[in-house]
Amino acid sequence: MQRRLLLTALGLASLLANPAHAAEPLKIGLVLPMSGPFADYGKQIERGVRLYIAANGDTVAGRKIELIIKDDSPGTAGDVSKRLAQELVVKDKVDVLAGFGLTPAALAVAPIATEAKKPMVVMNAATSIITARSPYIVRTSHTLAQVSAPIASWAAKNKIKTVYTLVADYGPGHDAEGQFKKTFTAAGGEVVGEVRVPVKNPDFAPYLQRIKDTKPDAVFLFLPPGAETIAFMKGFADRGMAQAGIRIIGTGDLTDEDILDALGEPALGAITAFHYAQSHKSAENAAYTAAYAKAYPKERPNFMSVAGYDGMHVIFEAIKKTGGSADADKFIEAAKGLSWVSPRGKIMIDPATRDIVQTVYIRKVESVSGKLQNIEFDSMPDVKDPGKP
Ligand code: PHB
Repeated sequence: MQRRLLLTALGLASLLANPAHAAEPLKIGLVLPMSGPFADYGKQIERGVRLYIAANGDTVAGRKIELIIKDDSPGTAGDVSKRLAQELVVKDKVDVLAGFGLTPAALAVAPIATEAKKPMVVMNAATSIITARSPYIVRTSHTLAQVSAPIASWAAKNKIKTVYTLVADYGPGHDAEGQFKKTFTAAGGEVVGEVRVPVKNPDFAPYLQRIKDTKPDAVFLFLPPGAETIAFMKGFADRGMAQAGIRIIGTGDLTDEDILDALGEPALGAITAFHYAQSHKSAENAAYTAAYAKAYPKERPNFMSVAGYDGMHVIFEAIKKTGGSADADKFIEAAKGLSWVSPRGKIMIDPATRDIVQTVYIRKVESVSGKLQNIEFDSMPDVKDPGKP
């Protein structure tokens, strides 16, 4: 009896001395563009994060989830993202850093994750190199190389012999251009022209004219979804380039559901490779899109929202496996090799790279009951990022 009492007292003492596991909230600091040109990235990711909590509860391993969102608008200024991440670590004392809409933000914050020893869950930024910049990074989105190789293979097999590439002039654009060219030329295709355009406000007119004059079978595109994508598509249509026999191919960022309605008719027939489509047919996606529609009836779920949702799954599962500890080394060990069925299909965190392994689908933009959708018609399972050094 006495021994039992003593054990109970000891148990209580250790709980009091080490309350982190039982009582302390789990603070997740989200660095996201919530205003400015890329505000939709932050909003989509936040919706995915909140939907995961709504579906799975707000407590994991006894710790209540607390979200702290910092707006790093415009999302392309690394110094802004870095200062906010520092604030999250030092002032807010977050346990986990997450979010990251664009590559410059993720690259700028990676050294903070390493120095402060915080797990960093990348929910969008998609340049291959990012995960190599800190041992504490895990990514639940995609990489441009991962989705560019499949569209290059598809093009080479489907009578597209010459391609003009047009990409945004920064990390993900360079990755998309490099991987597309590598895979396409290895399969016998020819890149007959390439151009890199400013990330913001490029004037597409001269590029479009040059492409039209070159008469490639297709133009391959990567632009971060937004006003630029819409401007490109409009210019393409206005110049009658489809009628001139030029097709549009790209990574699915191009026909993202968040901008698809705004792209309108010119997007019809575009072929892209991507890991998520709102129209993806599975029980998991039916549940996801229904929950999304109920919570956000005016919006459409896109790949960013799903990466936010899956990023929360990594956090929940890793914290369960560590018994409530957010220690960066333990967290990352727990995250390595996690596999589950996401709304996008079966996915896994590659234990070697901490990057995502997933099915890449080939899709075509079609009008379904009056709404533009990316309709999947082919797929490659278990695609790893081919862009790792
Ligand atoms: C990025 O900046 O890494 C980025 C942005 C938008 C995308 C993909 C990647 O659709």
